[in-house]
Amino acid sequence: MTFLITAGPTREPIDPVRYISNRSSGKMGYAVAEAALDVRHDVILISGPVNLAPPRNAKFISVSTSDEMFEAVHRHADESNVCVLCAAVADYKPAQVSPVKIKKHADGISIELVPTRDILQSLGCQDARKFLLVGFAAETDHLEANATKKLREKNCDIIVANDARIAMESDENELLILFRDGEMKKISRASKKILARQLVKIFSNSQQKSLTKKM
Ligand code: C5P
Repeated sequence: MTFLITAGPTREPIDPVRYISNRSSGKMGYAVAEAALDVRHDVILISGPVNLAPPRNAKFISVSTSDEMFEAVHRHADESNVCVLCAAVADYKPAQVSPVKIKKHADGISIELVPTRDILQSLGCQDARKFLLVGFAAETDHLEANATKKLREKNCDIIVANDARIAMESDENELLILFRDGEMKKISRASKKILARQLVKIFSNSQQKSLTKKM
């Protein structure tokens, strides 16, 4: 199977030297990529800026902004069997990018922010998609309720929910996995590497099952 995986944060430029971003380390997405490669899947890893070495044997695409990530995902989604959108894509970007460095003012300044395009949702609303679509939900509260809402709204097959306070920048995580048919699985705290192996098994089994149903 071919796995397309997004990982890390995006950077939304304000001017040539400043940007908006978040604390995502990319560790979960890179661990899923390594685990998929270990069991001989092909991997396309589309990554925002992180301090991790790209896995050997993956097709590696480095991006910076949410728009670049959007384009890269759409270019490669149809050649994939499983799309795992693990990246912490910025939800907002500056309405305008200043071509010159913004000068310091004695008063405060305001920056108008506009929503970025939702990559997961844009794949979820494709009518005839053939790939299994997996989203991640990092929450600080009401984990199950918020993740269930995302599963519906973004029309994906699986949502992997985690507590942002445990997951961000850490080597460990604990997961709540929600499936489209209402099934739910909890995986207790473990290293992201161990969790990733279990996730890859769950994703490939689900993709296999959906293929059998369609036959
Ligand atoms: O809505 P929220 O950002 O919490 O949703 C998280 C999921 O949506 C993740 O799988 C993330 O990669 C994806 N996402 C996206 N494009 C965005 C925002 C989130 O693909 N602009």
